[in-house]
Amino acid sequence: MTLPKKVRIVEVGPRDGLQNEAKPVPAAAKIELIHRLQDAGVSIIEATAFVSPKWVPQMADNAEVMAGIRRKPGVTYPVLVPNMKGLDAAIAAGADEVVVFGAATESFSKRNTNCSIDEGLARFEGVAQAAIAKGIRVRGDISVCLGCPYEGKVDPAAVVHVARALDAMGCYEITVCDTIGIGTAGETRRMIEAVAKHIPVERMAGHFHDTYSQALTNIYAALECGIMTFDSSASGLGGCPYAKGATGNVATEDVLYLLNGLGIETGINMDGLIAAGDFICGVLGRPTLSRVARAIRARSA
Ligand code: HMG
Ligand code: MG
Repeated sequence: MTLPKKVRIVEVGPRDGLQNEAKPVPAAAKIELIHRLQDAGVSIIEATAFVSPKWVPQMADNAEVMAGIRRKPGVTYPVLVPNMKGLDAAIAAGADEVVVFGAATESFSKRNTNCSIDEGLARFEGVAQAAIAKGIRVRGDISVCLGCPYEGKVDPAAVVHVARALDAMGCYEITVCDTIGIGTAGETRRMIEAVAKHIPVERMAGHFHDTYSQALTNIYAALECGIMTFDSSASGLGGCPYAKGATGNVATEDVLYLLNGLGIETGINMDGLIAAGDFICGVLGRPTLSRVARAIRARSA
């Protein structure tokens, strides 16, 4: 087993990290976070979501955020879109990559996108076709791959069903997500191996929330399976409005510390990343959830 030499980090803090905040976060702060992340060397930043503002009010400023970003060459800014209305708005805002998001269970699909798994996939097919025709790359996320807040354990076969459909519609990358951060390393491996029978593992990504403190272990298991792209959020912000009790994404700082220790290249500078995390924590008035950021700050204090 050899680990990759390089890993792509997809920073999802501005979207997944902030979508669940009860108090509005000003667009200017979101834009500043994105700028600080790109200055730290992050090259893929999930900037916002073109979803219904009735469902996720925190993302209602999507167009304002997109318009305010000082785009840096070599950086991509994927945005979530659930339907054609979202795609049209994302295109109007100049999105260079879009993310469609399905789920491995019917209950989560219904709560998150108000439709069944297959209804969602049918919508995404139209979205993917239209995006690809315009030269916009499409990524596909699958929620609740290791456990569902409404249905409990998830059969890897359910993940495979959604992954194959996303692949068939042209998603260049398929992200398996542990939305509620409940999975463990063995389950992670089994689920990835099941999907990798159908999708080349180089085209898969991992998205782990850290609710049960398993995210880094699961990332290591995923690395061993050959996954080379991981979503994470600066200072471990975040959570999904439709996954009660689930905490944020694994902290980007913690993932970077792991990868640096393994000699795996990411292009990201730790000090700049911690500063970006500090910035957004200051806006939110909360301490960072990254243990690495806390340890490094404590050492240098
Ligand atoms: P619906 O209510 O069935 O949709 O919601 P609708 O078509 O009946 O529309 C309802 C209203 O929303 C209408 O407005 C539409 O125009 C409007 P009205 O006529 O009542 O004034 N609308 C929109 N507005 C702006 N942009 C749009 C849009 N679409 C409709 N794109 C819908 C269905 C899918 C729209 C809704 O359920 C939705 O927006 N869901 C998104 C939920 C969400 O963002 N969840 C969090 C992101 S996923 C996540 O966090 C998981 C992830 O991180 C991976 C992981 O960890 O698992 C990705
Ligand atoms: Mg998530």
